[in-house]
Amino acid sequence: MKVLKDRILKDGKVLEGNILKVDSFINHQFDVELFNEMGKELKRRYEGTEITKILTVEVSGIAIAAIVAQYFNVPVVFAKKHAGRNMDPDSYEADVYSYTKGATFKVRVSKKYINKEDSVLLIDDFLANGNALLGLIDLVEQAGAKVAGAGIAIEKAFQPGRKVVEEKGVRVESLAIIEKMEDNQLSFK
Ligand code: G4P
Repeated sequence: MKVLKDRILKDGKVLEGNILKVDSFINHQFDVELFNEMGKELKRRYEGTEITKILTVEVSGIAIAAIVAQYFNVPVVFAKKHAGRNMDPDSYEADVYSYTKGATFKVRVSKKYINKEDSVLLIDDFLANGNALLGLIDLVEQAGAKVAGAGIAIEKAFQPGRKVVEEKGVRVESLAIIEKMEDNQLSFK
């Protein structure tokens, strides 16, 4: 998606450890117009696919999912990483290993919000190692629902995320696919 790739080239910063900083337009301050374009593009790519719900994971996925959902006219559910007192005890729960943090955490969704009739589109900002998506797929499968596919803003193709998610039989659509990220130089697929 040209507009996203151009924006990454203009405002993204390559940090040490293969991290792309996009917090001026995606995951701290965010550009609603850009997210609207992402929503239109994902709607186009998933035309003809049944989608009854969008599922993401807090924190950074929420804003993208909320805007994208307007093009699908379906509710957004986000998996919670922090189960506060008001978390429904009757929840699906999955483990997610975060490479960047070197730790495993739990993601949870109330059983009320995904059910076996749902066909769920997974949305996230980054696809790197694929662990966040694997956790979401696990939650959807526990609910007996179907995974319609995944919609990702930025995929890092030099990390194994796509492979592990596709091995689960899930379609992956990424709007900007980074092939290489070295010495502050980026190249897209
Ligand atoms: P995964 O997301 O594919 O599972 O891979 P990984 O375990 O490596 O990612 C852990 C966290 O780091 C995720 O966010 C992911 O979105 C983020 N991340 C991965 N690569 C990059 C990158 O190049 N740039 C930035 N900015 N983030 C990256 P998280 O910990 O769940 O954070 P948040 O959603 O709560 O903000």
